[in-house]
Amino acid sequence: MSIKNIFEKRLSTTMIGLGLPPETSPLIRLSVRPEFGDYQANGVMRAAKLAGENPRQLAKKILAAADLSDLVDLAEVAGPGFINFHLNKVFIARQLAENDVKKPSNGVPKTVVIDYSGPNLAKEMHVGHLRSTIIGDCIARIHEYLGNKVIRQNHMGDWGTQFGMLIAELEYHTISGETDEFLLDDLEKFYQRAKTRFDSDSAFADQARKYVVRLQAGDQHCIRLWQHFIDVSVQHNLNIYQRLNVSLKKEDIKAESSYNHQLEELVSRLSRSGIAVNDQGAKVIFLDDLSDKNGRASAMIIRKSDGGYLYATTDLAALEHRAKVLKADRILYFIDARQALHMKQVFSAGKLAALVSDEVSLEHHSFGTMMAEDGKPFKTRTGGTVKLENLIDEAIERAADLIAIKNPKLNENEILKISKKVGIGAIKYADLSKHRSTDYVFNWDLMLSLNGNTGPYLQYAYTRICSIFKRAKVDMTNYSEEVIVNNDEEKNLCLKILQFNEVLEQVAQDSLPHLLCNYLYELAGAFMSFYEKCPILKSTVAVETCQSRLTLCSKTGETICTGLDLLGIEITEKM
Ligand code: ARG
Repeated sequence: MSIKNIFEKRLSTTMIGLGLPPETSPLIRLSVRPEFGDYQANGVMRAAKLAGENPRQLAKKILAAADLSDLVDLAEVAGPGFINFHLNKVFIARQLAENDVKKPSNGVPKTVVIDYSGPNLAKEMHVGHLRSTIIGDCIARIHEYLGNKVIRQNHMGDWGTQFGMLIAELEYHTISGETDEFLLDDLEKFYQRAKTRFDSDSAFADQARKYVVRLQAGDQHCIRLWQHFIDVSVQHNLNIYQRLNVSLKKEDIKAESSYNHQLEELVSRLSRSGIAVNDQGAKVIFLDDLSDKNGRASAMIIRKSDGGYLYATTDLAALEHRAKVLKADRILYFIDARQALHMKQVFSAGKLAALVSDEVSLEHHSFGTMMAEDGKPFKTRTGGTVKLENLIDEAIERAADLIAIKNPKLNENEILKISKKVGIGAIKYADLSKHRSTDYVFNWDLMLSLNGNTGPYLQYAYTRICSIFKRAKVDMTNYSEEVIVNNDEEKNLCLKILQFNEVLEQVAQDSLPHLLCNYLYELAGAFMSFYEKCPILKSTVAVETCQSRLTLCSKTGETICTGLDLLGIEITEKM
């Protein structure tokens, strides 16, 4: 059990024993400043209010009644009724020995469906899909680590009118005898060419429009062309995932088109139940709970007057699938903030139509846009969208330059291997370490810096721990001896290591990866202070002290390594 939970439990029991209302809680939190101790109880003021007592008096009464002697050196009432706890060093050492993460947050594993990445297959994957991919992947890893059942759903955009144009273009080239070997190796160029032809050649545009209709009707020829295009585009995306160390696999793809055959039945069901109504030839769901300030309900079209279905229709089908077939307890969507209204409509209509029961938690975890340093959305020099492929190449090149300067003894092969990890790690960490909901500025120099809250800094901190073990000539993995906590630096480091679990639970709850980044940065900081103050391998250091300190090093290393892995970032033993 985490330290927080131990205190929570002890004090709750005491508070109930004192006859306080059962809904009161001690509200144990980490102390924000060392003079407030290590942990504090913030819940007494509220309990006092409910019980009509003086908060400071009540805090004293609780302290007198609670037996905390095995946990603290000192517990004191502060301010209007806080209780500050200064933990006992033996207790901390014991906790560290028993420390076991990898437990589901509340003990009961949940089924968590996570919708992330979802690139559009008509074009090449670009920076617009980076945040969803990186943040969603981190959250998926964390839930898995905590023991929940994670089902990744990559809602790829593989359907819609652009595909008529694309398969007409594909046919145009293959008919003239061109092999498509090189045709589709740059999907972006292919799209541009198709678009130019579409805009300038009316016969081609007609053909493209016809192909949209034939595609929707399931025409074999069109489906074959479409499937070929999709296969190439999917492979392109899978390669990017692999380069980015993103855990999405082919099996996680549940693309828009996979719901096609359900849409007609879904819409007629919603019509029969009166949830969808006719409106100027279209089928619309009016959502009262999302009405505007004039009381007009929000309208969600689920079938256009020409009979076509929409992005929203597919999302309703997907929602039903996730709730009823995948049996989700929570469904998390990592999608751009610009789709906030769309998500609200899907959630509201889904609950209204009972496609998903009320117990299922539907969560849109949105995020801001990636900006260039000029404060405008991130673009290429010519104003185009930045391809992920190119961004990855540049990150690796820049990391290689950095590493070659930092450590001239490395050979070319080593540099390449390390720069892949460092370059990718830098991009991911820069994104994950910002609060998800804000826009963030993409800056190569900052993200690759070895000082400050960056990926490379943490990777470097890990290499320093590795080198301690190399010098000590002992194996770092699973190194575990008795821990003796003597000074503040050791104590702080232990406490930090022990907070890992609490942080992960918080991140899993709120889908906020920056909390994990901040934690790892603080852990590395606590380690640096410890390392400066506490000699480890000096001949004057007693054997038990050396072993205890090496254990702290190994546990720090393990925590950094696990934490980075949960962020989707690889470690390296030297750099
Ligand atoms: N393809 C969409 C886009 O690029 C993202 C899909 C998100 N998932 C969803 N269920 N709508 O905007």
